[in-house]
Amino acid sequence: MRELSMHILDIAQNSIAAEARLIQIDVVEDAANEMMTISVIDDGKGMSEEVVQMVADPFVTSRTTRQVGLGIPLLTAAAERCGGGVEIISKQNVGTTVTAQFQLSHIDRAPLGNMAETLLVLVACNPDLDFVYNHVRGENSFRFDTREIRSELGSIPLSHPEVVTFIRDFVAEGERRLGA
Ligand SMILES: Nc1ncnc2c1ncn2[C@@H]1O[C@H](COP(=O)(O)OP(=O)(O)OP(=O)(O)O)[C@@H](O)[C@H]1O
Ligand SMILES: [Mg+2]
Repeated sequence: MRELSMHILDIAQNSIAAEARLIQIDVVEDAANEMMTISVIDDGKGMSEEVVQMVADPFVTSRTTRQVGLGIPLLTAAAERCGGGVEIISKQNVGTTVTAQFQLSHIDRAPLGNMAETLLVLVACNPDLDFVYNHVRGENSFRFDTREIRSELGSIPLSHPEVVTFIRDFVAEGERRLGA
């Protein structure tokens, strides 16, 4: 079973490929409604309506190295297996929102996985982009925003080893407090 954080990494990589500058990742665990919602929101180049329609089809990709794109179909399969699904809203030159829903306690729902490592990879490899991570769990929430860290750092890049370690520990601690 693939951890959901691996899907999040894949979907965020689509946003990076689409030249997004700001990528927001929302994870909402709503036990009252038995629902888990994951959204990746970007301000990248977006897709035409035709491309949005075709993207769920695994034979559609803008990659040149191989013919099939699997990021969105794999996420869609995981969500549908858990009584949910994926919705894509996109506007050319504005951005894209990919939202996946899962039945929270579904037996096939993979664990969220290690969001500290996922954010570490995203930030360390893309220090000039901004990332926001919002994790809501019932009444509690954790938020991480590279724009806030960047303003404290001055000229030090987000990829500096000590900054990367700080980010990983900060997210891990936030997740631990949420009980995630
Ligand atoms: N956030 C996005 N912004 C703009 N276009 C997107 C976005 N996400 C997906 N797409 C388009 O949808 C296509 C399919 O995405 P998908 O993740 O399924 O496959 P891929 O990225 O092409 O390949 P893979 O994920 O297997 O490396 C992409 O090639 C791209 O054209
Ligand atoms: Mg992809």
